[in-house]
Amino acid sequence: MHNFTYHNPVKIIFGKNTIVEIKNQIPANSTVLLAYGGGSIKANGVYQQVIKSLSECKVIEFSGIEANPDYDTLIKAIDICKQEKVDYILAVGGGSIIDGCKLIAIGAHYNGDPWEILTKPNYKATSAIKLGTVLTLPATGSEMNCGSVISRRTTGAKLAFMNDLVYPTFSVLDPETTYSLPKRQLQNGIIDPFIHVTEQYLTTDINTDIQDGFAETVLRTLIKVGKDIVNGTQNYDTRANWMWAATNALNNIIGIGVDHDWATHMIGHELTAKYNLDHAQTLAIIAPQVWRYQFKAKMAKLAKFGRNVWGLENQDSEIVATQAIILTEEFFHSLDVKTKLSDYEINPDIEALTSNLFKYSQTALGENQAIDKDAVTKIIEMAK
Ligand code: NZQ
Ligand code: ZN
Repeated sequence: MHNFTYHNPVKIIFGKNTIVEIKNQIPANSTVLLAYGGGSIKANGVYQQVIKSLSECKVIEFSGIEANPDYDTLIKAIDICKQEKVDYILAVGGGSIIDGCKLIAIGAHYNGDPWEILTKPNYKATSAIKLGTVLTLPATGSEMNCGSVISRRTTGAKLAFMNDLVYPTFSVLDPETTYSLPKRQLQNGIIDPFIHVTEQYLTTDINTDIQDGFAETVLRTLIKVGKDIVNGTQNYDTRANWMWAATNALNNIIGIGVDHDWATHMIGHELTAKYNLDHAQTLAIIAPQVWRYQFKAKMAKLAKFGRNVWGLENQDSEIVATQAIILTEEFFHSLDVKTKLSDYEINPDIEALTSNLFKYSQTALGENQAIDKDAVTKIIEMAK
């Protein structure tokens, strides 16, 4: 196991009817930017609960943050925060809203062009507006981490940043807010956390029994609830286990002291930027091919995955590892999730995708920095 420090300052408020707790988290008389997306929170009653809980605050609404939040939209909210001296941001929605609010929170205090936060590794930020969240789509883990992914449609960029300043101070997770999700988002909500785990688990075997055991539990839970969730079950416990699994897939715990991959995510972001596929849709296409491309380096962990998650019993690790990849693809198919670009009628412009991917950083991807431009080309070819 590698050395590590472990830190997570996010207060989780989990369960039925917990949105009322917001009033105990955001001080009365605060000026609050209430940020949300295209209106799902009005249709499912979450908005009304949030407004009630903010009755002692001055509320400024900012709606219309898109799926894959757009930089130019967020810049408008940064201006509002500066003008109105906003002292709390409340993000209500899925990962896109929360990610967008992280950029708003840090951008409003940033002395310079906020684009630098995404493109200049050495940018200096010293404070951010406080951020609370109400999660309505279990998927990204953004509610309990300090990462954010921002799209800039005018330039075709989709870039990420991480900064301790943007950890939410609190996140409300009420599984009942997820009942209104459509099938596509339910599918995304199984695939994205599944791949978050594999990006941290299917790497090098360095005897991390605790993290591997946690990771396997998250995967087994997602497999267990996957079909019911995608079929729209209204069973509270199934929704609750799903929601907590998704949060635990990317809240630092399983990732401490282990090697990380993230090549699938980086390639996937380019596919979203260019072809507008949902984030999770890109992951289901790319991940199995990354595992195949890196088969030798990942074989020990793939075999562990096959035995501990898929219950395979063969003594031959190569056979188990191969079979584990196939079973994972079959699991995705059982959720009606596609695993090839051609399933979406996309014939990829690989040169454009790889050039954009290595535009801001030349560093090769993956836990062994083995995924350079040529490797990405091969992986996308395999995913056609
Ligand atoms: O805009 P509204 O009307 O709210 O509708 C949204 C949106 O259209 C809808 N939705 C959300 N909750 C709902 C609901 N519809 C009905 N009932 C509800 N309860 O779902 C649609 C998609 O929402 P979005 O927030 O875009 O989805 P998701 O949570 O999958 O977020 C995707 C974004 O997160 C980034 C992705 O790259 C992408 O930009 N990621 C962020 C990460 C992080 N911060 O750690 C890690 C991830 O790997 C990922 O990259
Ligand atoms: Zn993801």
